[in-house]
Amino acid sequence: MDKKMNIAIDGPAGAGKSTVAKLVAEQLEFLYIDTGAMYRTLTLAALREEISLEDEDVLTELLSRTTIHLEHEKKGVRVFLNSEDVTEEIRTNHITANVSQVSSHEGVRIEMVERQRKLAEKGQAVLDGRDIGTYVLPDAKVKVFLTASVEERARRRYEEQVEKGMSVNLEKLKQEIAHRDQLDSTRTFAPLRKADDAVEIDSTTLTIPDVAKAIIELAKERAK
Ligand code: DC
Repeated sequence: MDKKMNIAIDGPAGAGKSTVAKLVAEQLEFLYIDTGAMYRTLTLAALREEISLEDEDVLTELLSRTTIHLEHEKKGVRVFLNSEDVTEEIRTNHITANVSQVSSHEGVRIEMVERQRKLAEKGQAVLDGRDIGTYVLPDAKVKVFLTASVEERARRRYEEQVEKGMSVNLEKLKQEIAHRDQLDSTRTFAPLRKADDAVEIDSTTLTIPDVAKAIIELAKERAK
């Protein structure tokens, strides 16, 4: 496989990006970079310090003194905030409900994007997020925009959470997902958008392995 190849996977919340990205990275022996986890980690740090999530300068300053580290292990990725393992904590509803606001600030994004580009500079990385194909890596050889109907995305989240023993309401989940998409796609700086040269895959009726297979085929095709 092409040494410089990077794969960008963007799309709305709950479309299966991270599961697919992990599988693609594993099969191609690429590095998986979960950019959403980076914004989630900053959100956790800000909530702990009781910083106003509307204050761009203070958030940007907080990020400048915050280390976010992704550690790759067999079962997936562990996420560290200043060397504390926060892998589970960044997935709680409280973080999910606030992350779009934190990630909407230009100052925060500029610094995050710089870190993401550094992580991907050697190539052979799969990045999932909202702005990878349009902004972080506009020259990525493979760009995928992964979608699914909001009903299906809510249903998948519902099953995930029920499996974890959480009590959830499907209708509420659907509203939260739609709200997050709305915030992510209407922010002024690097919003969620399909890159012109991205291949759109609608995963509503596809399985995760099918989607991963399609992306791997695309990568092999582009590597020729
Ligand atoms: O993929 P996720 O649900 O973990 O992402 C959490 C939030 O982070 C998402 O609602 C928007 C933001 N995000 C972003 O703005 N840009 C990215 N590249 C990745 C995530």
